Amino acid sequence: MTTSHTAPATRPAHTFSVAPMLDWTDRHCRYFHRLLSRQTLLYTEMVTTGAIIHGKGDYLAYSEEEHPVALQLGGSDPAALAHCARLAEERGYDEVNLNVGCPSDRVQNGMFGACLMGQAGLVADCIKAMRDVVSIPVTVKTRIGIDDQDSYAFLCDFIDTVSGRGECEVFTIHARKAWLSGLSPKENREIPPLDYPRVYQLKQDFPHLTVAINGGVKTLEDAKAHLTHLDGVMMGREAYQNPGILLQVDREIFGSDDEVRAGVDVVRALYPYIEAELARGTYLGHITRHILGLFQGIPGARQWRRYLSENAHKAGADVGVVERALQCVIAPHGAL
Ligand SMILES: Cc1cc2nc3c(=O)[nH]c(=O)nc-3n(C[C@H](O)[C@H](O)[C@H](O)COP(=O)(O)O)c2cc1C
Repeated sequence: MTTSHTAPATRPAHTFSVAPMLDWTDRHCRYFHRLLSRQTLLYTEMVTTGAIIHGKGDYLAYSEEEHPVALQLGGSDPAALAHCARLAEERGYDEVNLNVGCPSDRVQNGMFGACLMGQAGLVADCIKAMRDVVSIPVTVKTRIGIDDQDSYAFLCDFIDTVSGRGECEVFTIHARKAWLSGLSPKENREIPPLDYPRVYQLKQDFPHLTVAINGGVKTLEDAKAHLTHLDGVMMGREAYQNPGILLQVDREIFGSDDEVRAGVDVVRALYPYIEAELARGTYLGHITRHILGLFQGIPGARQWRRYLSENAHKAGADVGVVERALQCVIAPHGAL
C-alpha cells in the first residue's frame, strides 16, 4: 500500500476508467472522452448478447481512436457470451466485461445484471466460457450485495466462486448493494449507502485479484485516495456530467508528462470527427449532447450549453454551430 500521490508513469489502464452507462457512453461520447484523456479505460454501454446475435445493427461498432476500450456484455448464457466475447476480440476490443450490477426490471427478466449475484456458479460458468475462447481480459462489474444478501461473507463467496471456478482476475465493485425490487435503477444508484471500507477489505482478503472501486467518486483527489487501497477507480456520472475532469487524469493519475489540453482545443479537435459523422448521416445533436458539460464552472458555460441545445437539432446544423457556441466561453474571457 502506498500513500504517495505521485503516480508512476506506467500504471495499467484499469487504474482509472469511465463507467459503462447506457445511452450515455456511446461511441460518440467515448471518442470525445478519448480526446480528454489518452490513458483512461473507456467502457461501452451494456450490450446484450441478444442484441449482438439477433439484432440488425452493428452493436460492436467503435472507432480505433477509442483504445483502450472495453465491451460490456449483458447476458447469462455461457455459450452466447462466449460467442460475443470472441466477436469482441476479433473486432479489437481490449477487454470484455460482464454486467452483474444492473438492477432494472428489463434486465432481471432477461436473467442478467445484478440478479446474477445470487447465482455465483452461473457467473463463474459464464466467465470461464468466455475466458476459454479469448485471450483479452474477461472482467466482472458487480455490487457489494443484493436485497437481503448483503453480508460481507456473501460478497466473499461470490468473489471466491467467480475468481476460483470462473478464473476471473479483475473485478470492479460498485460499493453499494442493489434492491432488485422497489427501487428504480436511478434510485439504486443513490439510495443504498456506499460502503468503501468493504471494498478495501475485499482487496485485503483477495490480494491476488485486481479490484477497482466504483460509486460516488467525484474528484481526482477521491480517486487518488481510493488508489492507496485498491488497483483502480471507475468514475461514472461525474465524468459524464463534468467531462473537463478527465483533462487532468493522465497527469494526476497516470503520471504522464504530457501537456494538459485546453477544453477549447479538445472541442476543435473533435471537428473532423463531427464532419465525418455528419457526412454519414449522424445528427449533430447526438454528438454534441455529450460535450454540454465540458465548461462547467467557467464563465460562459451556461450560454455554451444553451446555444448548443437550441441549435444542434436544426436542419443543416454543422461544426459552425459548435464553433459559434465556443465563442461563449472564449470571448471576452480569453483564458481558455
Ligand atoms: C445513465 C446511466 C446508465 C448506466 N448504465 C450502466 C450500464 O449499462 N452498465 C453498468 O454496469 N452500469 C451502468 N450504470 C451504472 C454506472 O456504471 C455506475 O456503476 C454508477 O453510476 C455508479 O457510479 P458513479 O457514482 O460514479 O456514477 C449506469 C449509470 C447511469 C447514470
